[in-house]
Amino acid sequence: MATVAVLPGDGIGPEITRVASSLLRQLRPDVETVEAPVGGAAMALGKPALPPETRALCARAEAILFGSVGLPQYDGKPLAERPEYALLLLRGDYELYANVRPVRVFPGLEDASSLKPELVRGLDLVVVRELTGGIYFGKPKEQRQIDGEDGAVDTMVYKASEIDRIARVAFELARGRRKRVTSVDKQNILETSRLWRRVVERVAAEYPDVALDHLLVDNAAMQLVRRPGEFDVMLTENMFGDILSDEAAILTGSIGTLPSASLGTRKTAGGAFGLFEPISGSAPDIAGKGIANPTAAILSAAMLLRLSLGDDANAARLERAVEAAYAGGARTTELGGTLGTDAFAEIVRRKL
Ligand code: NAD
Ligand code: IPM
Ligand code: MN
Repeated sequence: MATVAVLPGDGIGPEITRVASSLLRQLRPDVETVEAPVGGAAMALGKPALPPETRALCARAEAILFGSVGLPQYDGKPLAERPEYALLLLRGDYELYANVRPVRVFPGLEDASSLKPELVRGLDLVVVRELTGGIYFGKPKEQRQIDGEDGAVDTMVYKASEIDRIARVAFELARGRRKRVTSVDKQNILETSRLWRRVVERVAAEYPDVALDHLLVDNAAMQLVRRPGEFDVMLTENMFGDILSDEAAILTGSIGTLPSASLGTRKTAGGAFGLFEPISGSAPDIAGKGIANPTAAILSAAMLLRLSLGDDANAARLERAVEAAYAGGARTTELGGTLGTDAFAEIVRRKL
C-alpha cells in the first residue's frame, strides 16, 4: 500500500490541505494518508519545526502533501528557529532539486488577472526552479561583525552538476510542450550566472529540437507582465525562481490556484518521490476565516497522483473537476466570488 505523508503546517495550510487529502482519499481509498506536524504547528507542541517522527514518516512515504509553514510571530528570528526551516530541511534531506510550477489561466478567470484579459487568455507556462542550491543553501550564511559593525552574509554558490541536472528537467519538459526554454540569469553581474549560462548551453546542444533563449532576470520580470504568452518553460536558479513564480502566479488571477512539485532522485513504484505544495504561503491575513482558495492544494494532490503514484487517470479526473468548477462559475472571494474553502471544495467534489 502506498503511503502519503500529509503535513498541513501553519495558517491556511491545514484549511486547504484537509480538502486536498480528503479528495485524494476519495479517489484512492487504497492509499494510506498519515498526518504529522510541521513548522509552527510542531513548534507550538514544543517540538522542532521538522520533528523526528515527521521525518520518519516522510522516509517511509511515497510522497509528501505539504500545506505551508511560517507565522508572523517568528519574524526576525534566524532561519534555524523559524517554521520555514522545516521546508528547507525536507528539500535538502531528499535533494528535491527540481521545483516544477505550472502556471495556467482557467478559462473564465481572465478578468481576475491583474493584466488585460487578452494578455493572459490561454496562458500556459511552467517555471522550473532549482531548489537545493544557490543563495538558499550556500555557506557561509550568518550574521557577524563586519568592519566593526553589524553585518550579514549569504552565499550564492552553484556547481556545474547542479545546473546540468535542473537544465535537463527543463529541456525534457519542453519536449512534451511547445519546445521552448527561456533560461533566466544575471550573467552581467554574477559569476554563478555565467556558469549557469555556459552549462545550460552545453545541455541545450543535446536538445536540438528545443529552442533556447536567455533573459537577464530583471528583463525577465518585465517580459513576464508584458508578453507572458510567449513563455513556455522558464528555467532559473533558486531565488530568481522563487520571485518570478509568485509574479507568474498572479497573472492567473490568484496565487491560490497554483500547485508545485519538488522532485529529486529517489524513485517510487509509480514514479519519483516528491513534495507537493501550493506555491503560496500560510497567508496569515486570511488564515482561520475559511476563505482560502483550496485549488492549489487540490492541484498539488493531482500532481502527486501523477508523478509519485503513477496514476494519470485520477490526476486528470481531479484536474478536470477543478476546471469544470471554474467553467461553471465557481469563485472564491479573492477571485471576486462568494465561495469559502469548503463550498468551493464541495463543488469540485460534485464534479468528480
Ligand atoms: P503568502 O503566499 O502566504 O500570501 C500572499 C498573499 O496571497 C496574501 O494576501 C494571501 O492572503 C494571498 N493568498 C495566498 N494563498 C491564498 C489562497 N489559497 N487563497 C486566497 N488568497 C491567498 O505570502 P506571505 O504573506 O508573504 O507569507 C506568509 C508566510 O508564509 C511567511 O511566513 C512565509 O515565509 C511563508 N511562506 C511559506 C511557503 C511554504 O510553506 N511553501 C511559501 C511562501 C511563503
Ligand atoms: C516557496 C517559499 C519558500 C521559498 C520559503 C517559505 C522557504 O517562498 O516555496 O516559494 O522561498 O522557497
Ligand atoms: Mn515563494
